[in-house]
Amino acid sequence: MQEIPKNKFDLVITDPPFAINFKATKSNYNRTASRVIQGYNEILPENYYDFSVNWMSEAFRILKESGSMYVFSGWNNLKDILSALDDVGFTTVNHIIWKYQFGVVTKKKYVTSHYHCLYVCKNDKKKKFYPFSRFKKDSKTDNGRSLHYKDKEDVWEIKREYWTGKEKTPTKLPADLIKKILLYSSRKNDLVLDPFLGSGQVAVVSKMLGREYYGFEIVKEYYNFAKKRLEKNVYP
Ligand SMILES: C[S@@+](CC[C@H](N)C(=O)[O-])C[C@H]1O[C@@H](n2cnc3c(N)ncnc32)[C@H](O)[C@@H]1O
Repeated sequence: MQEIPKNKFDLVITDPPFAINFKATKSNYNRTASRVIQGYNEILPENYYDFSVNWMSEAFRILKESGSMYVFSGWNNLKDILSALDDVGFTTVNHIIWKYQFGVVTKKKYVTSHYHCLYVCKNDKKKKFYPFSRFKKDSKTDNGRSLHYKDKEDVWEIKREYWTGKEKTPTKLPADLIKKILLYSSRKNDLVLDPFLGSGQVAVVSKMLGREYYGFEIVKEYYNFAKKRLEKNVYP
């Protein structure tokens, strides 16, 4: 990221490593472990704040003044993400909750079925937001409520996606989630960055919607997997 000139990107969408000793070898979320590509790069919890400040400072530098960023985070290390975003100088626009289905019954605690998504920008007066890119102002739900209002509430109920192919990475953001962000916060030909590509989902959906994209992934096997999906236009 340090080699990228400043003020280049319109939008960053990313789901950084979790710092919870997550391993690709576990059969995460009911996936068959043997098919999960190994090597997921984790960060030690004690280094997470510094790690976050480092990549976020670069993201801030290479975003345009009108640019914005969406960062996903579980609850475990949310405090480090929130502090780092503030300390780097981002302005928080919304704190979105992504509500998903998990399907595992717990006996000693509540079931975690949400993820946090911090929507931040560099300059609140200049940030780009396209309020009617998904629904028209007068669109209505089946029971007569305003659809564009409903769509813009900050709790998003979107199903997790499961892999169908032989190979898979251990985690993947649903395409519908990324589509929603891209439609509200970017236009065709805008430049989108994901510094932690994983399966390449952000790049794949960006390509699908006619956005330009850049991305990084430290694990070579994941990088190659993402590249293959992009080359073959394997859309979710
Ligand atoms: C939570 S996953 C991203 C999943 C992705 N959003 C998707 O939908 O497939 C985080 C990724 O960051 C990668 N990663 C960890 N440290 C990194 C670093 N320093 N630079 C680039 N990628 C890194 C991990 O290997 C992992 O694939």
